[in-house]
Amino acid sequence: GRPVGILGTGKYVPDRVLTNQQLEQMVETNDEWITTRTGIKERRIASEAQASSDLAYEASLKALAAANVAAEDIDLIVVATITPDMAFPSTACILQEKLGAKKAAAFDLSAACSGFIYGLANASSLIATGMYRHALVVGAECLSKITDYTDRNTCILFGDGAGAVVIGEVPEGRGFRSFELGADGSGGELLRISGGGSRHPVSPDTIDEKLHYIYMAGRDVFKFAVRIMGTAAEEALRKAGLAKEDIDLLVPHQANIRIIQSALERLDLPEDKCVVNVDKYGNVSAASIPIALAEAVEEGRVNEGDVLVLVGFGGGLTWGAAALVW
Ligand code: ACO
Repeated sequence: GRPVGILGTGKYVPDRVLTNQQLEQMVETNDEWITTRTGIKERRIASEAQASSDLAYEASLKALAAANVAAEDIDLIVVATITPDMAFPSTACILQEKLGAKKAAAFDLSAACSGFIYGLANASSLIATGMYRHALVVGAECLSKITDYTDRNTCILFGDGAGAVVIGEVPEGRGFRSFELGADGSGGELLRISGGGSRHPVSPDTIDEKLHYIYMAGRDVFKFAVRIMGTAAEEALRKAGLAKEDIDLLVPHQANIRIIQSALERLDLPEDKCVVNVDKYGNVSAASIPIALAEAVEEGRVNEGDVLVLVGFGGGLTWGAAALVW
């Protein structure tokens, strides 16, 4: 197929900052515990009026401008999210309307924190075949809206934000080289929101039992993450015919600094070849990787010809990695 790559990136995070010190006033925790266990110092929180499509819209406008592509020239919109505006219509359809991307097909993708990589794999394949020319792939989350702020196990971790990329044809030798996607449904219980779907429709009971909030078995997810980040990245490199030494920049899912550090050890990479912003934004699920990528681009850390590896893991369980030449 045609070579497909990233033409522009954009990110948006809400203005409101929630610091560890503020969390100390809300639950039994402290800055030292949060910092040493997670690396998180603060996270952004959407306003009451903001939903995921609003954050997605701001990030998408920036990505479109950076790519110099008009909204009307987008053929496909994929929004990866676990916090859609509503069950349906999809957040991608709501975004399509806001952007005026009239000719775009639009759908949401559910692969939790791996969703952005899953979205890139899907959208780039459709461009490589010649079916579409330009796609907008977005990760957008308002995790604050599904977080129980009386549960210290989870409320310290999550934040809100969105990242977007426009993808399309690039010159030969550049663009995506490989994708490694995977799932292990046997671990589905470890990370979930079980209320509000067809299994447990919303009822006074599901609300009493807090089934509309994120449940996470932190230690089990941690073990899975440490194992899968390294293996997924290595598998993407192998498929691309690249070696660890070829990596110029690793863009990992920002869940926990210790998980990122273990991936760096596994890949023999120095810290300066890795994007880290978990301290500022916490875990933004599907938005983490595109926000980190957009920030790296803003900071001039990504140059033509660089080899990038994007890698993430999340609920499902799922994982995904991509190797690309910028
Ligand atoms: N402040 C103080 N103490 C706390 C807090 C807190 N905020 N949260 C938990 N604790 C306590 C627990 O009660 C527990 O106490 P106990 O041992 O008496 O029961 C203890 O601290 C837990 O300590 P550890 O097990 O050593 O914690 P761990 O090193 O596993 O760190 C963490 C916990 C940060 C949650 C880690 O397991 C982790 O990062 N897991 C992966 C999370 C993740 O990546 N999730 C992806 C989510 S993606 C998505 O779906 C949006």
